[in-house]
Amino acid sequence: MKVFITGVAGFMGSHLADRIIENGDYVVGVDNLIGGDIDNVNPKVEFYNEDCDNLEKMVEHMKGCDVVFHAACTAHDGFSLFSPYYITKNTFQITMSVLSAAIQNKISKFIYCSSMSRYGEQEILPFTEDMLCKPRVPYGAAKYAAELVVQQICDLNNVYFNIIVPHNIIGPRQCANDPFRNVAAIMINRMLQGKQPVIYGDGEQKRCFSDIEDVVFCIEQLIYRSDLNREIFNIGPDEEFVTINTLARTIADALDFELNPIYVPQRPNEVKYATCSSDKARKLLGYSTKVTLEEGIRRMVEERKKKGPVEFDYHYDIEIVNDKTPKTWVDRLI
Ligand SMILES: NC(=O)c1ccc[n+]([C@@H]2O[C@H](COP(=O)([O-])OP(=O)(O)OC[C@H]3O[C@@H](n4cnc5c(N)ncnc54)[C@H](O)[C@@H]3O)[C@@H](O)[C@H]2O)c1
Repeated sequence: MKVFITGVAGFMGSHLADRIIENGDYVVGVDNLIGGDIDNVNPKVEFYNEDCDNLEKMVEHMKGCDVVFHAACTAHDGFSLFSPYYITKNTFQITMSVLSAAIQNKISKFIYCSSMSRYGEQEILPFTEDMLCKPRVPYGAAKYAAELVVQQICDLNNVYFNIIVPHNIIGPRQCANDPFRNVAAIMINRMLQGKQPVIYGDGEQKRCFSDIEDVVFCIEQLIYRSDLNREIFNIGPDEEFVTINTLARTIADALDFELNPIYVPQRPNEVKYATCSSDKARKLLGYSTKVTLEEGIRRMVEERKKKGPVEFDYHYDIEIVNDKTPKTWVDRLI
Protein backbone atom coordinates (compact mmCIF):
# COMPACT_ATOMS: atom_id res chain seq x y z
CA MET A 1 0.00 0.00 0.00
CA LYS A 2 1.15 3.54 -0.76
CA VAL A 3 0.06 6.07 1.85
CA PHE A 4 0.24 9.84 1.32
CA ILE A 5 0.74 11.75 4.59
CA THR A 6 0.60 15.52 4.87
CA GLY A 7 2.43 17.07 7.82
CA VAL A 8 4.86 14.12 7.79
CA ALA A 9 7.58 16.10 9.60
CA GLY A 10 5.17 16.93 12.42
CA PHE A 11 4.33 15.10 15.59
CA MET A 12 1.44 12.90 14.44
CA GLY A 13 2.45 12.56 10.78
CA SER A 14 5.97 11.36 11.59
CA HIS A 15 4.82 8.75 14.12
CA LEU A 16 2.23 7.47 11.66
CA ALA A 17 4.82 7.29 8.88
CA ASP A 18 7.11 5.22 11.13
CA ARG A 19 4.28 2.78 11.82
CA ILE A 20 3.28 2.40 8.16
CA ILE A 21 6.91 1.77 7.22
CA GLU A 22 7.25 -0.79 10.05
CA ASN A 23 4.24 -2.52 8.52
CA GLY A 24 6.18 -2.83 5.26
CA ASP A 25 4.17 -0.24 3.35
CA TYR A 26 5.31 2.83 1.40
CA VAL A 27 4.92 6.44 2.51
CA VAL A 28 4.95 9.57 0.40
CA GLY A 29 5.00 12.61 2.66
CA VAL A 30 4.80 16.36 2.31
CA ASP A 31 5.55 19.11 4.81
CA ASN A 32 6.56 22.74 4.51
CA LEU A 33 8.35 22.52 7.89
CA ILE A 34 6.52 25.50 9.37
CA GLY A 35 5.76 23.53 12.52
CA GLY A 36 7.65 20.29 11.96
CA ASP A 37 11.23 19.16 11.94
CA ILE A 38 13.02 17.37 9.11
CA ASP A 39 14.76 15.18 11.70
CA ASN A 40 11.37 13.63 12.48
CA VAL A 41 11.02 12.27 8.95
CA ASN A 42 11.80 8.57 8.57
CA PRO A 43 14.55 8.19 5.92
CA LYS A 44 12.37 5.69 4.07
CA VAL A 45 9.67 8.32 3.42
CA GLU A 46 9.57 9.74 -0.11
CA PHE A 47 9.64 13.29 1.22
CA TYR A 48 8.73 16.58 -0.46
CA ASN A 49 9.27 19.94 1.20
CA GLU A 50 6.06 21.40 -0.13
CA ASP A 51 3.20 23.63 0.93
CA CYS A 52 -0.11 21.76 0.82
CA ASP A 53 -1.65 24.89 -0.65
CA ASN A 54 0.14 24.12 -3.92
CA LEU A 55 -2.56 22.12 -5.70
CA GLU A 56 -0.44 21.30 -8.72
CA LYS A 57 2.31 19.81 -6.55
CA MET A 58 -0.20 17.89 -4.42
CA VAL A 59 -1.61 16.31 -7.60
CA GLU A 60 1.90 15.45 -8.77
CA HIS A 61 3.22 13.95 -5.51
CA MET A 62 0.06 12.00 -4.77
CA LYS A 63 0.20 10.01 -8.02
CA GLY A 64 -0.16 6.27 -7.44
CA CYS A 65 -1.13 6.59 -3.76
CA ASP A 66 -4.00 4.51 -2.34
CA VAL A 67 -4.81 6.36 0.86
CA VAL A 68 -4.44 9.97 1.99
CA PHE A 69 -4.01 10.91 5.64
CA HIS A 70 -4.24 14.68 5.97
CA ALA A 71 -2.63 15.96 9.17
CA ALA A 72 -0.91 19.15 7.98
CA CYS A 73 -2.22 22.20 9.75
CA THR A 74 -1.18 25.00 12.03
CA ALA A 75 -3.09 23.58 14.98
CA HIS A 76 -3.45 26.75 17.02
CA ASP A 77 -6.68 26.78 18.95
CA GLY A 78 -6.67 29.95 21.13
CA PHE A 79 -4.13 31.74 18.96
CA SER A 80 -6.45 31.50 15.95
CA LEU A 81 -8.63 34.26 17.48
CA PHE A 82 -5.70 36.61 16.98
CA SER A 83 -4.39 35.32 13.63
CA PRO A 84 -7.66 34.16 12.03
CA TYR A 85 -6.55 34.78 8.46
CA TYR A 86 -3.42 32.68 8.56
CA ILE A 87 -4.64 29.88 10.83
CA THR A 88 -7.91 29.27 8.98
CA LYS A 89 -6.19 29.46 5.59
CA ASN A 90 -3.74 26.87 6.80
CA THR A 91 -6.49 24.68 8.23
CA PHE A 92 -9.37 24.95 5.78
CA GLN A 93 -7.88 26.06 2.47
CA ILE A 94 -4.99 23.61 2.43
CA THR A 95 -7.46 20.81 3.06
CA MET A 96 -9.29 21.81 -0.11
CA SER A 97 -6.13 21.49 -2.13
CA VAL A 98 -5.21 18.09 -0.64
CA LEU A 99 -8.80 16.88 -1.11
CA SER A 100 -9.01 18.08 -4.71
CA ALA A 101 -5.69 16.38 -5.51
CA ALA A 102 -6.95 13.17 -3.91
CA ILE A 103 -10.06 13.11 -6.07
CA GLN A 104 -8.07 13.98 -9.20
CA ASN A 105 -5.77 11.05 -8.39
CA LYS A 106 -8.71 8.69 -7.78
CA ILE A 107 -7.38 7.66 -4.37
CA SER A 108 -9.63 5.15 -2.65
CA LYS A 109 -9.65 6.48 0.92
CA PHE A 110 -9.33 9.92 2.51
CA ILE A 111 -8.76 10.27 6.25
CA TYR A 112 -9.10 13.74 7.67
CA CYS A 113 -7.68 14.82 11.00
CA SER A 114 -10.05 17.22 12.72
CA SER A 115 -9.89 18.41 16.32
CA MET A 116 -12.07 18.46 19.40
CA SER A 117 -12.06 22.21 18.99
CA ARG A 118 -15.01 21.48 16.64
CA TYR A 119 -17.30 20.90 19.64
CA GLY A 120 -16.79 24.21 21.40
CA GLU A 121 -18.68 24.48 24.68
CA GLN A 122 -21.41 21.85 25.17
CA GLU A 123 -24.01 21.41 27.89
CA ILE A 124 -23.51 17.66 28.05
CA LEU A 125 -20.22 15.95 28.83
CA PRO A 126 -18.36 14.03 27.56
CA PHE A 127 -18.66 15.10 23.91
CA THR A 128 -20.02 12.49 21.52
CA GLU A 129 -19.55 12.52 17.75
CA ASP A 130 -23.23 13.22 17.02
CA MET A 131 -23.35 16.51 18.96
CA LEU A 132 -24.03 19.75 17.16
CA CYS A 133 -20.66 21.45 16.64
CA LYS A 134 -20.38 24.91 18.19
CA PRO A 135 -16.73 25.90 17.77
CA ARG A 136 -15.66 28.97 19.72
CA VAL A 137 -12.45 29.72 17.83
CA PRO A 138 -11.59 30.11 14.12
CA TYR A 139 -9.38 27.00 14.19
CA GLY A 140 -12.31 24.83 15.33
CA ALA A 141 -14.65 26.48 12.83
CA ALA A 142 -12.15 25.87 10.01
CA LYS A 143 -11.71 22.23 11.04
CA TYR A 144 -15.46 21.68 11.09
CA ALA A 145 -16.00 23.48 7.78
CA ALA A 146 -13.30 21.31 6.22
CA GLU A 147 -15.01 18.18 7.58
CA LEU A 148 -18.24 19.18 5.82
CA VAL A 149 -16.50 19.68 2.49
CA VAL A 150 -14.59 16.39 2.86
CA GLN A 151 -17.96 14.68 3.28
CA GLN A 152 -19.55 16.47 0.31
CA ILE A 153 -16.70 15.86 -2.14
CA CYS A 154 -15.98 12.27 -1.06
CA ASP A 155 -19.67 11.31 -1.19
CA LEU A 156 -20.07 12.80 -4.65
CA ASN A 157 -17.04 10.92 -5.94
CA ASN A 158 -17.68 7.64 -4.08
CA VAL A 159 -14.45 7.91 -2.11
CA TYR A 160 -14.29 6.27 1.30
CA PHE A 161 -13.61 8.81 4.01
CA ASN A 162 -13.31 8.88 7.78
CA ILE A 163 -12.69 11.73 10.18
CA ILE A 164 -10.73 11.51 13.41
CA VAL A 165 -11.22 13.92 16.26
CA PRO A 166 -8.22 13.66 18.57
CA HIS A 167 -8.05 15.19 22.04
CA ASN A 168 -4.89 16.85 23.27
CA ILE A 169 -2.12 14.49 22.23
CA ILE A 170 1.16 14.03 24.08
CA GLY A 171 4.37 12.17 23.31
CA PRO A 172 7.90 12.54 22.00
CA ARG A 173 8.47 14.84 19.00
CA GLN A 174 5.75 17.25 19.98
CA CYS A 175 6.95 20.69 18.95
CA ALA A 176 8.37 22.28 22.12
CA ASN A 177 9.43 25.71 20.89
CA ASP A 178 6.03 27.06 19.88
CA PRO A 179 4.75 29.45 22.57
CA PHE A 180 1.19 29.41 21.16
CA ARG A 181 0.24 25.73 21.56
CA ASN A 182 1.08 22.30 23.06
CA VAL A 183 0.60 22.91 26.75
CA ALA A 184 2.49 19.82 27.96
CA ALA A 185 5.54 20.46 25.76
CA ILE A 186 5.63 24.14 26.82
CA MET A 187 5.47 23.26 30.51
CA ILE A 188 8.23 20.64 30.21
CA ASN A 189 10.42 23.04 28.25
CA ARG A 190 9.94 25.82 30.81
CA MET A 191 10.49 23.62 33.86
CA LEU A 192 13.70 22.26 32.35
CA GLN A 193 14.85 25.89 32.17
CA GLY A 194 13.97 26.28 35.86
CA LYS A 195 10.91 28.40 35.01
CA GLN A 196 7.45 27.97 36.51
CA PRO A 197 4.66 26.92 34.12
CA VAL A 198 2.21 29.61 33.04
CA ILE A 199 -1.46 28.68 33.53
CA TYR A 200 -4.34 30.60 31.97
CA GLY A 201 -7.33 31.13 34.30
CA ASP A 202 -7.63 29.01 37.44
CA GLY A 203 -6.18 25.88 35.83
CA GLU A 204 -9.35 23.91 36.51
CA GLN A 205 -10.12 23.53 32.79
CA LYS A 206 -10.67 19.83 32.10
CA ARG A 207 -9.11 18.02 29.16
CA CYS A 208 -8.22 14.49 28.03
CA PHE A 209 -4.63 13.76 27.05
CA SER A 210 -3.97 10.93 24.62
CA ASP A 211 -0.62 9.34 23.98
CA ILE A 212 0.50 9.42 20.36
CA GLU A 213 0.94 5.63 20.32
CA ASP A 214 -2.75 5.10 21.09
CA VAL A 215 -3.74 7.67 18.46
CA VAL A 216 -1.60 6.03 15.77
CA PHE A 217 -3.23 2.67 16.54
CA CYS A 218 -6.63 4.14 15.63
CA ILE A 219 -5.40 5.78 12.45
CA GLU A 220 -3.88 2.47 11.38
CA GLN A 221 -7.30 0.81 11.69
CA LEU A 222 -8.76 3.41 9.37
CA ILE A 223 -5.97 3.01 6.85
CA TYR A 224 -5.99 -0.77 6.63
CA ARG A 225 -9.60 -1.75 7.27
CA SER A 226 -12.17 -1.50 4.52
CA ASP A 227 -15.32 -1.87 6.66
CA LEU A 228 -15.26 1.71 7.96
CA ASN A 229 -16.63 4.54 5.86
CA ARG A 230 -18.24 7.95 6.53
CA GLU A 231 -17.47 7.72 10.25
CA ILE A 232 -16.32 10.32 12.72
CA PHE A 233 -14.30 9.10 15.71
CA ASN A 234 -13.26 10.79 18.91
CA ILE A 235 -9.80 9.46 19.60
CA GLY A 236 -8.26 9.27 23.05
CA PRO A 237 -8.95 8.20 26.61
CA ASP A 238 -12.09 8.97 28.58
CA GLU A 239 -11.24 7.12 31.77
CA GLU A 240 -9.95 10.22 33.51
CA PHE A 241 -10.35 13.88 32.73
CA VAL A 242 -7.38 15.93 33.71
CA THR A 243 -7.23 19.56 34.82
CA ILE A 244 -4.39 21.80 33.67
CA ASN A 245 -3.34 22.05 37.33
CA THR A 246 -3.07 18.25 37.47
CA LEU A 247 -1.10 18.22 34.25
CA ALA A 248 1.37 20.72 35.71
CA ARG A 249 1.65 18.62 38.86
CA THR A 250 2.26 15.42 36.83
CA ILE A 251 5.03 17.10 34.85
CA ALA A 252 6.59 18.62 37.96
CA ASP A 253 6.62 15.19 39.64
CA ALA A 254 8.29 13.61 36.59
CA LEU A 255 10.96 16.32 36.71
CA ASP A 256 11.21 16.52 40.50
CA PHE A 257 10.46 20.24 40.14
CA GLU A 258 9.16 22.45 42.94
CA LEU A 259 5.88 23.66 41.47
CA ASN A 260 4.48 27.13 41.98
CA PRO A 261 2.62 27.98 38.74
CA ILE A 262 2.23 31.52 37.42
CA TYR A 263 -1.49 32.19 36.96
CA VAL A 264 -2.44 34.70 34.24
CA PRO A 265 -5.89 35.84 33.01
CA GLN A 266 -8.02 33.30 31.21
CA ARG A 267 -7.75 33.30 27.41
CA PRO A 268 -10.79 34.54 25.48
CA ASN A 269 -13.29 31.90 24.39
CA GLU A 270 -11.40 29.07 26.06
CA VAL A 271 -13.67 26.07 26.63
CA LYS A 272 -13.74 25.16 30.31
CA TYR A 273 -14.63 21.48 30.02
CA ALA A 274 -13.55 19.67 26.87
CA THR A 275 -13.83 15.96 27.41
CA CYS A 276 -14.70 13.35 24.81
CA SER A 277 -16.37 9.97 24.91
CA SER A 278 -14.31 7.18 23.36
CA ASP A 279 -17.19 4.69 23.21
CA LYS A 280 -17.42 4.68 19.44
CA ALA A 281 -13.66 4.20 18.95
CA ARG A 282 -13.70 1.40 21.54
CA LYS A 283 -16.56 -0.38 19.76
CA LEU A 284 -15.54 0.08 16.12
CA LEU A 285 -11.76 0.54 16.21
CA GLY A 286 -10.86 -1.64 19.19
CA TYR A 287 -9.41 1.41 20.93
CA SER A 288 -8.14 1.04 24.46
CA THR A 289 -5.90 3.33 26.45
CA LYS A 290 -2.53 1.61 26.61
CA VAL A 291 -0.36 4.53 27.70
CA THR A 292 -1.27 6.39 30.89
CA LEU A 293 -0.82 10.14 31.31
CA GLU A 294 2.11 9.56 33.69
CA GLU A 295 3.86 7.25 31.23
CA GLY A 296 3.22 9.59 28.28
CA ILE A 297 4.64 12.53 30.24
CA ARG A 298 7.62 10.43 31.34
CA ARG A 299 8.44 9.66 27.69
CA MET A 300 8.19 13.34 26.72
CA VAL A 301 10.37 14.38 29.64
CA GLU A 302 13.01 11.78 28.75
CA GLU A 303 13.13 13.03 25.16
CA ARG A 304 13.33 16.71 26.13
CA LYS A 305 16.05 16.00 28.69
CA LYS A 306 18.08 14.24 26.00
CA LYS A 307 17.55 16.97 23.39
CA GLY A 308 17.78 19.78 25.93
CA PRO A 309 15.40 22.72 26.43
CA VAL A 310 14.80 25.03 23.47
CA GLU A 311 14.19 28.76 23.01
CA PHE A 312 10.57 29.66 22.26
CA ASP A 313 10.21 30.86 18.68
CA TYR A 314 7.66 33.62 18.01
CA HIS A 315 7.61 32.98 14.27
CA TYR A 316 3.89 33.52 13.66
CA ASP A 317 2.64 37.06 13.21
CA ILE A 318 -0.09 38.10 15.61
CA GLU A 319 -2.61 39.72 13.25
CA ILE A 320 -4.81 41.29 15.91
CA VAL A 321 -3.08 42.97 18.81
CA ASN A 322 -5.38 44.75 21.22
CA ASP A 323 -6.48 44.55 24.85
CA LYS A 324 -8.00 41.09 24.20
CA THR A 325 -4.72 39.55 23.06
CA PRO A 326 -3.01 37.54 25.82
CA LYS A 327 -0.08 39.56 27.20
CA THR A 328 1.97 36.37 27.38
CA TRP A 329 2.09 36.44 23.57
CA VAL A 330 2.31 40.17 22.91
CA ASP A 331 5.06 40.68 25.48
CA ARG A 332 6.65 37.30 24.75
CA LEU A 333 6.47 36.14 28.35
CA ILE A 334 6.32 32.39 27.68
N1 LIG B 1 -1.43 17.56 18.78
C1 LIG B 1 -2.65 17.64 19.26
O1 LIG B 1 -2.85 17.74 20.47
C2 LIG B 1 -3.83 17.60 18.31
C3 LIG B 1 -5.10 17.51 18.86
C4 LIG B 1 -6.19 17.48 17.98
C5 LIG B 1 -5.99 17.53 16.62
N2 LIG B 1 -4.72 17.62 16.13
C6 LIG B 1 -4.55 17.68 14.69
O2 LIG B 1 -3.58 16.70 14.33
C7 LIG B 1 -2.88 17.13 13.17
C8 LIG B 1 -1.40 17.02 13.41
O3 LIG B 1 -1.06 17.84 14.52
P1 LIG B 1 0.37 17.78 15.18
O4 LIG B 1 0.18 17.88 16.64
O5 LIG B 1 1.12 16.63 14.62
O6 LIG B 1 0.99 19.15 14.69
P2 LIG B 1 2.43 19.43 14.10
O7 LIG B 1 2.56 20.89 13.98
O8 LIG B 1 3.46 18.70 14.86
O9 LIG B 1 2.33 18.80 12.65
C9 LIG B 1 1.72 19.45 11.58
C10 LIG B 1 2.70 19.47 10.43
O10 LIG B 1 2.06 20.10 9.32
C11 LIG B 1 3.02 20.91 8.67
N3 LIG B 1 2.31 21.94 7.93
C12 LIG B 1 1.56 22.96 8.41
N4 LIG B 1 1.05 23.68 7.42
C13 LIG B 1 1.47 23.12 6.27
C14 LIG B 1 1.27 23.43 4.91
N5 LIG B 1 0.54 24.47 4.51
N6 LIG B 1 1.88 22.64 3.99
C15 LIG B 1 2.63 21.58 4.37
N7 LIG B 1 2.86 21.25 5.63
C16 LIG B 1 2.29 22.01 6.58
C17 LIG B 1 3.89 21.46 9.79
O11 LIG B 1 5.15 21.87 9.33
C18 LIG B 1 3.97 20.27 10.74
O12 LIG B 1 5.10 19.49 10.49
C19 LIG B 1 -3.35 18.55 12.88
O13 LIG B 1 -4.30 18.52 11.83
C20 LIG B 1 -4.00 18.99 14.17
O14 LIG B 1 -5.02 19.94 13.96
C21 LIG B 1 -3.64 17.67 16.95
